[in-house]
Amino acid sequence: MGEIALMATTGDRFSGRTALVTGGGSGIGRAVALAFAAEGARVVVAGRRPEPLKETVALIEERGGAALAAPADVSRSGDAEALVAAAVDHFGSLDVAVNNAGVFRGGVPLADLPEADWHEQLAVNVTGVHLALQAEIRRMRTQPTGGAIVTVSSNFGVHTTAPGAAAYAATKAAVTALSRGAALDHIRDGVRINVVSPGATATPMSLRAGETDADRAERARATLPLGRVSATEEIAAAVLYLASDAAASVVGTDLLVDSGASL
Ligand code: NAI
Repeated sequence: MGEIALMATTGDRFSGRTALVTGGGSGIGRAVALAFAAEGARVVVAGRRPEPLKETVALIEERGGAALAAPADVSRSGDAEALVAAAVDHFGSLDVAVNNAGVFRGGVPLADLPEADWHEQLAVNVTGVHLALQAEIRRMRTQPTGGAIVTVSSNFGVHTTAPGAAAYAATKAAVTALSRGAALDHIRDGVRINVVSPGATATPMSLRAGETDADRAERARATLPLGRVSATEEIAAAVLYLASDAAASVVGTDLLVDSGASL
């Protein structure tokens, strides 16, 4: 059921534009970075660990694209500004930004969650997105062509939840609210902001403790209306749509891509 028919996209929707992707060294962020590059964008690939970032850049360059690895910790004040500066210095503008970096700490009932895990999720998922939005908007509103921002939230934010995910879900609800509020504040500045809320997607983040990929596939078959998790490329396709000119009048939406989990 629901076989993945998505081919690697090619096109030129983002030719001449520069896209920044946080958390671009793995999972959804890597798929997003590759998808933008395949459609002509120059990509700044940001994240904490340099090695995976370099791998993403190499994959883009192998396919004839242009990319820059930019190590950064999005929870740190100043790092987001440095990323924006790197995009402008290397490629001349910042046209698209995807705030995808995030962490999940949970799998235990809320009462048993270590306080450090609460603070880490707040720091990366909420403060990280807040600082990134500020730095990106401050640049984009100075450009005659403005810009488009997509933040990656989760269906656990406002659409559904699961055991052991209360704190994570709270941070993702905050990501959605923050992005929608910013969308309203800055659309007249020429900066268009939207959200993609994935459900279970084929990365290690959606594996439960001790679960293999095959176990997850079985769980998805039994519990998800679609019968399978999303491919990272399917989340990337939603991100690219929202960042593209085809979505010019889509402002502050929260696009759910979750195999029907929230139904
Ligand atoms: P992932 O763990 O592969 O990607 C997260 C990326 O963020 C990693 O590359 C990591 O290095 C980076 N990162 C973490 N903390 C950072 C920091 N302080 N500064 C810079 N980079 C940092 O996992 P995945 O699945 O690709 O997740 C991407 C986004 O999608 C996250 O925001 C996650 O919450 C969200 N999401 C994922 C779902 C899934 O089932 N995989 C479902 C719903 C949402």
